[in-house]
Amino acid sequence: MPVDTTNPDKLVLTAGADSAEVYYFGATLTSWKVDGQERIFLSKDAILNGTKAIRGGIPLVFPHFGTVETSKLPQHGFARNSRWELLPQSAGSDSETVVQLSLKPAQVPESLRSLWPNDFQLIYTVKLSASNLTTTLDIKNTDSKEWEFTSLLHTYFRIQDVAKVGVRDLTGRSFVDKVAKGARDQELRDVVTIASEVDRVYENVEKNEIHIVGTGLGKDVVVHKKNFPDVVVWNPWVEKAKGMADFGDEEYHNMICVEVGKVADFVKLAPGESWSGSQTLIVA
Ligand code: BG6
Repeated sequence: MPVDTTNPDKLVLTAGADSAEVYYFGATLTSWKVDGQERIFLSKDAILNGTKAIRGGIPLVFPHFGTVETSKLPQHGFARNSRWELLPQSAGSDSETVVQLSLKPAQVPESLRSLWPNDFQLIYTVKLSASNLTTTLDIKNTDSKEWEFTSLLHTYFRIQDVAKVGVRDLTGRSFVDKVAKGARDQELRDVVTIASEVDRVYENVEKNEIHIVGTGLGKDVVVHKKNFPDVVVWNPWVEKAKGMADFGDEEYHNMICVEVGKVADFVKLAPGESWSGSQTLIVA
């Protein structure tokens, strides 16, 4: 059965030898196994009962990345803190499995919805096929007024050793260094490596294929991005890891976030307008 809906908390997708799991809470994808090998990091301390955004997987960031002076919403918005609904048109076959989840204002906890009083519909499509995972976020303004957003797919990749991992294809890009209080710099390295806390927003990355090398899990991972110009690279390192209750002190060794997004500038959506961004992860 390509989509198993028996668990009330999560969907289980299979396509041939590969599988994925998606929680209704946050529409957070928490597992992607390619030929039995887990490629997505989920913290051993992640809270999965819907009381906190899931630490790991692919949390969805909407309607804004980080914190914003003009908004009282918590960091990264409310999409990852709301229970999404499975849409009926989900289809499956032996080689490809697709599910779609939807989020509308009525599903957002009232305390958060009142802080961003705009009408919208989000549709998140997860498509699994051999060695491929495509996640697409469609954002529609169903209001009678314009509103604006930023958004991001906050993907936590599982890796064996952060000291050996590298991210290619960011060479020459300018970035905002959140560890250095928002200082701007330019990436000069061919391979971005991690040896301390890293929290960088690479803006307008021209290349649409980002290679993650040295995962220690066999083949590398390629991230194909579409309509997501920006790329965040994040690893909390020692002190931040200790400060997060839902993240093991030593788990920073085994994860790297490479997050494609539209975050450097807000997107304005007029009434009735839609916007779409996606990524395809490939083990190759
Ligand atoms: C990253 C941000 O995308 O998410 C970091 O760039 C942030 O600044 C990280 O620390 C995790 O955020 P949170 O809210 O899930 O702890």
